[in-house]
Amino acid sequence: MDLKQVALITGASTGFGRLIAETLARHGHTVFATMRDPVVCNAANSAELRTLAGKESLSLHVLEMDVTEEASVERAVRACVEQAGRIDVAINNAGYALVGLEEAVTVNQARQLMDTNFYGSVRVDRAVLPQMRKQGSGLLLHITSGAGRVVIPGAGFYCASKFALEALAESYHYELAGQGIESSIVQPGAYQTSVFGNMVKAADYNRTDTYGAAAQIPDKVNAALTATTGNAQDVADAVLSIVETTPGKRQLRYRVSPTDLGLEAINTVCSQVQARLLEGFGLTSETTFVQRSAAGGA
Ligand SMILES: NC(=O)c1ccc[n+]([C@@H]2O[C@H](COP(=O)([O-])OP(=O)(O)OC[C@H]3O[C@@H](n4cnc5c(N)ncnc54)[C@H](OP(=O)(O)O)[C@@H]3O)[C@@H](O)[C@H]2O)c1
Repeated sequence: MDLKQVALITGASTGFGRLIAETLARHGHTVFATMRDPVVCNAANSAELRTLAGKESLSLHVLEMDVTEEASVERAVRACVEQAGRIDVAINNAGYALVGLEEAVTVNQARQLMDTNFYGSVRVDRAVLPQMRKQGSGLLLHITSGAGRVVIPGAGFYCASKFALEALAESYHYELAGQGIESSIVQPGAYQTSVFGNMVKAADYNRTDTYGAAAQIPDKVNAALTATTGNAQDVADAVLSIVETTPGKRQLRYRVSPTDLGLEAINTVCSQVQARLLEGFGLTSETTFVQRSAAGGA
C-alpha cells in the first residue's frame, strides 16, 4: 500500500516505541511520538527525536502522554487529530515489567502495573476510536509479549497484564471488523531495550523467606531472558510491515522473536478454536472485516 499513514505511538521515549517512531517516519508516515513528560524527565529523548525530524525532514512530532491519565491521553489524541486531520494507526506500546514471586507483589504494585500495561491501552483505544469510526478505517496495534501467551514464574503479574491486553485486543478485532477498523497484536520475544533496566521488583520481600530454592526463580528468569535478547529493530520493522499492509489483510497476531518457544502453535490452535466459537455462536458474519473507506491513509 503506498498511502501514507498517520500513526500515534505510546511510550516512544525509548526502546520499541522510539524505534517504531523513527522507522515509520523514515518511511514517509506522519508520526506522533508520545511520551511522559517530554520537557523534564524525557527532555533528552524528545530533543533527539525533534533533532532527527529536522535533520531528515521527517513528519515526526513529539506529544506528551501518560497512559495512566485519561486527560493526558485525550489531550494527545486531540492534538494529533487537530494537526494531521486523522489517526490511521494507534500503537499501544507503553509498558513495563514487574518481577518477583507473586506473593511478594503488593496489591498496589499489581494495580499500578495493570494501570499502565492494560488500562493504558483501554484509555488510548477508547480515545482514538471515535475518530477512526468517523474515517471508517483505522488500526489499533497492541504490543503484548510472548508473556501474553505463556506464563513465566516470577513474572506472573506481568503475564496477567499482557494476557489481559491480548483478550482486549482480540475482542476489539471481532467487534470492530464490521466498521472497517482492525485490531492486531504484536507478541515480541526478549529484545535489548531499557525494559530490563526499568523492571520493578516485588516490594514485600519478607514473604519470600519460606520459599527456599523457589525464591531464586525471578533472578533465574531475568538471567535467561537477558541472555537471549535480539535486535529491537526487528520489532520496529515488523510494525512497519503491518502498518503498510492493506487494510483487511492484516493478521490478528504477529509473533516476533529471536527465539522459538513454539508460540505460533498456540496462536494457530487458538484461532481454530475461536473460529469454531464464533461459528457456534452465529457470529461469523458480524465479526468479518468490511472495507468502509477506500482511502484509509493521510
Ligand atoms: N524488550 C522486550 O524484551 C519486550 C518483550 C515483550 C514485550 N515488550 C513490551 O514492549 C513494550 C515496550 O517496551 P521496551 O522493551 O521498548 O522497553 P522500554 O525501552 O523500557 O520502553 C517502555 C516505554 O514505556 C513507557 N512508559 C512506561 N510507563 C508509561 C506511562 N505511564 N505512560 C506513557 N509511557 C510509559 C516508557 O516511558 P518513560 O521513558 O517515561 O519511562 C518507555 O518509553 C512494553 O509494553 C513491553 O512490555 C518488551
